[in-house]
Amino acid sequence: MSKRNTYLGDMTRAIHAGEAPDPTTGASAPAIHMSSTFVSDSVAGFSAHDLDEDSPFLYARWSNPSVTMLERKIAALQGTEDCLCTASGMAAATAIMLTFLSQGDHLVISDVSYAGVAELARDTLPRYGISVTPVDMSNLDAVAAALRPNTKIVHVESPVNPIMRLTDIAAVSKLTHDAGALLSCDATFASPLGLDAGALGIDLVMHSTTKYMGGHGDAVGGAVAGPADLIKQMRLEASIHHGGILSPFNGWLIARGASTLPLRMRAHQQGALAVAEWLEAQPPVKRVLYPGLPSHPQHDLAKAQMKNFSGMLSFQVGDVAAGERIARSMIEKLNVVHYAVSLGHHRSLIFWMETDGLMDSSFKLTGDALASYRAFAGDGIFRMSVGLEDPEDIIADLSQVL
Ligand SMILES: Cc1ncc(COP(=O)(O)O)c(C=O)c1O
Repeated sequence: MSKRNTYLGDMTRAIHAGEAPDPTTGASAPAIHMSSTFVSDSVAGFSAHDLDEDSPFLYARWSNPSVTMLERKIAALQGTEDCLCTASGMAAATAIMLTFLSQGDHLVISDVSYAGVAELARDTLPRYGISVTPVDMSNLDAVAAALRPNTKIVHVESPVNPIMRLTDIAAVSKLTHDAGALLSCDATFASPLGLDAGALGIDLVMHSTTKYMGGHGDAVGGAVAGPADLIKQMRLEASIHHGGILSPFNGWLIARGASTLPLRMRAHQQGALAVAEWLEAQPPVKRVLYPGLPSHPQHDLAKAQMKNFSGMLSFQVGDVAAGERIARSMIEKLNVVHYAVSLGHHRSLIFWMETDGLMDSSFKLTGDALASYRAFAGDGIFRMSVGLEDPEDIIADLSQVL
């Protein structure tokens, strides 16, 4: 299997990193290795603690060739030394938290994160003696004030799901490293091509590979990319001990999707910009948030920090009654755009997200934090993942309901 990242361009990396023609059959396309165990030529086993990238395959909870192929591809795309693939994006978040946090440690986390990650931090981690401070990561003074001597991880998400607020990642990285903590970043919305992890000072880049990386809405998976020593620790904890591994079949599917990621991301960006500009001109639409639009309140930061604005946008249509009425007509009338959760697929997806409901179930924000959320989301937003259909067809579909 070829080693990672010796290629000059994103497309070559996406296609070739991690794979090579099969040495036995000459097959040009990678095989799916549906094997849980591997025949050994050594009489003795070896300890999981001694694993390195040249270790032979032993048992699929340690590693499997189809998953290793994807790990090398993602590391090459993200520009990191190594990568760990997990059973889902949530398993990737859990892998970070349960590898690098112990009883008595402190986590600083974006007060708006993917809802599952927010609930993991707020409801689960404190049961293990880990204290958690949710912070508006767009407010650097608040981030600085939240850091403590026992802070081990600062976890950001940019753009944040669902409100498209950005974090100045390089600035938060400096604060985090000055405090002796690790910076982890959920870059699912941005994709590996949207953020330059090394330049921004991110230690661990997390993805739900269910989304842009796989890109076709047919496989759930997750990944964390980062330095080899941190990934090795995570492989021991998260895969070998906690067991949340990616199946070889999903590894193969997601790698096939990842092979076209740079092309797809360019098309997602182009389509999203066209849809966002059209939405801004529609009378029922009160506000559109897309980092690539000059009207995004952090457009300058987006231009400085994002290499691709991706296909995610949100828009407001007024109060909850208006949102629910339009959501109902979307369910009845839309053909091209599916009314469904998830994102990053070739099919366009849209979903109504009411602010009060999300506050009760997931974020539970009050005071300034709630005001900051409402500044981006009002009473509720439509979160839209602009797919790869022709933008004029997406727009024609949406014009039936707006
Ligand atoms: C930003 C973000 N992070 C993490 C996740 C969780 O990923 P998964 O559904 O693959 O567990 C999601 C899912 O929507 C997400 O949007």
